[in-house]
Amino acid sequence: MNQGVDVVGSRDDPHAQIRAARTLPTMLHSLSALREQFAIVFANRKIDTVVEVGVESGQVSSIYTELGASAVHCVDPFPSDELRATLAKNPALHLVEGHSPAVLAELPIADLYVLDGDHNYAVVHAEVTWIMENAPDAVVVFNDVLWPCARRDLYYEPSPLTGDDKHESSADGPTVWHDELTPAGLVGLGAFTWAVKAGGERNGVLTAVEDAVTEHSSAGWLLEIVPAVFGIGFLLRKTSPGAKKIMDQLRPFTSSKLIATLEGNRIALYTRVLQMQFEAVAHADDADRLAEQITAQRHEIERLRADLDRRVTEVGELRRSNQLLEQQLRDPLSVAPPDLGSAVNHLGRAAAARIRKARR
Ligand SMILES: C[S@@+](CC[C@H](N)C(=O)[O-])C[C@H]1O[C@@H](n2cnc3c(N)ncnc32)[C@H](O)[C@@H]1O
Repeated sequence: MNQGVDVVGSRDDPHAQIRAARTLPTMLHSLSALREQFAIVFANRKIDTVVEVGVESGQVSSIYTELGASAVHCVDPFPSDELRATLAKNPALHLVEGHSPAVLAELPIADLYVLDGDHNYAVVHAEVTWIMENAPDAVVVFNDVLWPCARRDLYYEPSPLTGDDKHESSADGPTVWHDELTPAGLVGLGAFTWAVKAGGERNGVLTAVEDAVTEHSSAGWLLEIVPAVFGIGFLLRKTSPGAKKIMDQLRPFTSSKLIATLEGNRIALYTRVLQMQFEAVAHADDADRLAEQITAQRHEIERLRADLDRRVTEVGELRRSNQLLEQQLRDPLSVAPPDLGSAVNHLGRAAAARIRKARR
């Protein structure tokens, strides 16, 4: 049962499957998940030299040496410290700090090219064209030949592309839930941008591969796609070593409606999660704004209350002066002999208070 696929667990270890699931990233995007399919390539032809374009953390690079390659040239223009440390552990892995396709001509001709760098028409078309013309017997593996890059360019930023090579682009990202970009989609957060419009000519990774195949059709190329992890393409010249066997053995994956359905479900769920995250952040921002408004209103209430207290005291004082005056007017003899000085003061204060009040 389930030969080689360790998902079953046991009565004594009922959590084996989900323990493995917990180790996966929320959105699986690395070619490291494709070890089984790379093994088919290595089993059917000699792969000595690999050029890996777009390396990121380097988690795939050593898979090629484990499967039999003796040299892997790892091309990435933005190598992180983590990548440098990972590659330094294996002397067969060589970091090439530069942009593809420009660096391809500086490297040894490879048996396997893995293209997962800049995901746009201009770069991928130039990469495939260079390989078809300079290493026509190589196996070429691509990531991102399905949604979201199949028919929409992605540009790693800062992009060296200019003019017609770069469509109008946006920091917003695609989502499964509608056709336009949205800030609640797969956004690059400064690392990359997306072409605003999808489709049309010279747009997207799959369009680039299809055009290169058409332009070199006399050589006869086979292109198959495993519909998982954003679409993994395998491109071989019909006459290259092991081509038929490789494509035949990949067929259970490339023809699986089940895999395609699971991928559709995965990207739908993930972009729903992104949308919910976006909405949660927007609600938190609203709550922060409301809290600021409430604090400002509380300060205003405190100020008004202090003003009110002051006025109540003033009214009390006025009332007391009035009572004294009324008493003096009603019965001048009932009060102590007039102290003309303090009476004049009193009257002066009362008159001033009335004038102040009238002015307000
Ligand atoms: C999707 S990640 C690669 C993931 C990796 N292949 C994996 O499967 O784990 C894309 C990488 O391509 C790099 N990149 C961007 N533009 C490139 C270019 N023109 N040439 C080579 N690499 C590029 C980026 O720096 C990033 O590390």
